[in-house]
Amino acid sequence: MRILVTGGAGFIGGHFVELLLKEKPDWEIHVLDMSGVGSREGTIEGVEWFHKGRIESTFSSFVMSGREFDYVVNFAAETHVDRSFVNPSDFVASNTLGVSQLLSACRRQQSLKMFLQVSTDEVYGPTAVHAIQSHESDLLSPRNPYSISKAAGEQIALCLGKLWNIPVCVTRGSNTFGPRQNREKLIPKIICNALEGKEIPIYGKGEQIRTWLSVYDHCRGILQVLLNSMPDEVWNLSGHFVLGNLKLCELIMDVMEGLKLGDFRKLITFVEDRAIHDNHYSMSKTKTRDGLPWYPIDEMDDVLIDTIQSCRKDLGL
Ligand SMILES: NC(=O)c1ccc[n+]([C@@H]2O[C@H](COP(=O)([O-])OP(=O)(O)OC[C@H]3O[C@@H](n4cnc5c(N)ncnc54)[C@H](O)[C@@H]3O)[C@@H](O)[C@H]2O)c1
Repeated sequence: MRILVTGGAGFIGGHFVELLLKEKPDWEIHVLDMSGVGSREGTIEGVEWFHKGRIESTFSSFVMSGREFDYVVNFAAETHVDRSFVNPSDFVASNTLGVSQLLSACRRQQSLKMFLQVSTDEVYGPTAVHAIQSHESDLLSPRNPYSISKAAGEQIALCLGKLWNIPVCVTRGSNTFGPRQNREKLIPKIICNALEGKEIPIYGKGEQIRTWLSVYDHCRGILQVLLNSMPDEVWNLSGHFVLGNLKLCELIMDVMEGLKLGDFRKLITFVEDRAIHDNHYSMSKTKTRDGLPWYPIDEMDDVLIDTIQSCRKDLGL
């Protein structure tokens, strides 16, 4: 089998490539990545084929020309919500235009078994009441430039798939955490700032609630969807750790203290909230539980320890 992993030098894409190297050692893995924010080329050293470029350019077609791929998994995206308020056009280019360009490139692929578009729980928009959960068939209601560009990207993928007879499926993952995530994201920022003795900024009162999924569980889920999904299907990949941001920060402080790194609670600083800040996402697990051989198995503390060690390594500690 031959697979193209776009965005495979990024946080989740890099872990997915690692999983493939372990689980599918006979697959020929190609990574296409522009080596932008969040990417670490060092993490995909075992991959023979690294193509450096942007998915929204004709480079996607160039990489695919003369090669038949069995699978394409698209992780490539601009991913930081805060930056999407400042440079929304970058998000539209990578997250929406990039998807349509990739699908165009796939039109000439005769043996493609599946194009998997990696999406996010944020496309549903916030769920107001704790008991309400978003289902795969719900209407989408994204509210910030990142989630809007991701929603447009997955809908373009499903639409062009039907139009051009390309098998397409979509995963919507919860907030993901684990080693090697860029420190602009919440968990590595908390850990790195603590280790450097810097203020740990928490938006508003830290009451926004997120569901957390380990990067290992997320990648295992994506692989199961890739191997088992029918075309046109959407799958929620929900974690089961539900925490307010302040509670999450306090949990990290507990784990760091348990590792005898110190007590960093005095560094927590409340800062002005985002202009638009979704309060809560919550996805139904029913379809995935009934339809896939997948369930998240990792313990939060274990993966937080891996993440803390990864941050320490990045900081040379
Ligand atoms: N991190 C999360 O919590 C989370 C949760 C659910 C879904 N997702 C989705 O998973 C995917 C990966 O997220 P991540 O956290 O690993 O992000 P990341 O920012 O760490 O990695 C993204 C990678 O994509 C590459 N990239 C960006 N734009 C590109 C372009 N136009 N052409 C080629 N390469 C490009 C970057 O260089 C980077 O290596 C994204 O699609 C994101 O929307 C992330």
